[in-house]
Amino acid sequence: MLLLGPPGAGKGTQSSNIAEEFDVEHVTTGDALRSNKEMDISEMDTEYDTPGEYMDQGELVPDAVVNAIVEKALTSADGFVLDGYPRNLEQAEQLEDMTDLDVVISLSVGEAELVDRLTGRRVCDDCGANYHVEFNPPEEEGVCDECGGELIHREDDTEQAVRNRLEVFEENTAPVIDHYRERENFVEIDGEQSLEGVWNDIETAIERKA
Ligand code: AP5
Ligand code: ZN
Repeated sequence: MLLLGPPGAGKGTQSSNIAEEFDVEHVTTGDALRSNKEMDISEMDTEYDTPGEYMDQGELVPDAVVNAIVEKALTSADGFVLDGYPRNLEQAEQLEDMTDLDVVISLSVGEAELVDRLTGRRVCDDCGANYHVEFNPPEEEGVCDECGGELIHREDDTEQAVRNRLEVFEENTAPVIDHYRERENFVEIDGEQSLEGVWNDIETAIERKA
């Protein structure tokens, strides 16, 4: 399964639900890259020497780095939900060589809501669980409900970086969504609903298409 959408659409939140409910692996390039922010990629002849330098500004990490991560993760996964990839047409082409997809889900959310969601997001530093100070607060402020870890504000969730991520999305990733839109297994879901509303639509879509 593939979950597409702009930054802040709820891909991470809902992919975790899918992984749990349908017993598949959650493959997320964002988390994989965050665990490797300091990796030395200078040998690949890239503009910057580490993924982190691209990420903190909201720029895309070079395709060669990301493609290798996804290829490795998909080879070892039985079933999967992919979140954060493909982000441009070149990556979509690579993915086609790696695997087939049963369902492609696109979450649509307007820009003002995306900015509110991302600037208010808090993420567990230990297990990666997602919260929002207003829309999805933890039971105890700053503490993860799942594992007791510390909740942090991502460096690319400042308003400036968020605006840049949205521009990068429009330019590179919106064409990927249009590319899948014509497929029979494509479903567009209104991501501005409540968390439960979005989840209900996703469950229905997967049960129908998969
Ligand atoms: P990545 O981590 O993938 O970030 P993203 O795509 O910008 O997506 P987010 O994680 O910000 O948002 P999300 O859609 O998962 O929303 P979430 O569920 O958290 O990528 C980060 C960086 O890594 C990129 O900028 C790039 O540099 C690099 N990168 C990653 N993949 C790459 C690739 N393939 N190629 C090149 N570079 C790559 O929800 C957001 C907030 O809203 C949360 O607080 C949540 O609680 C809340 N929320 C969710 N749903 C709802 C709802 N229905 N109602 C109210 N609040 C909600
Ligand atoms: Zn946690």
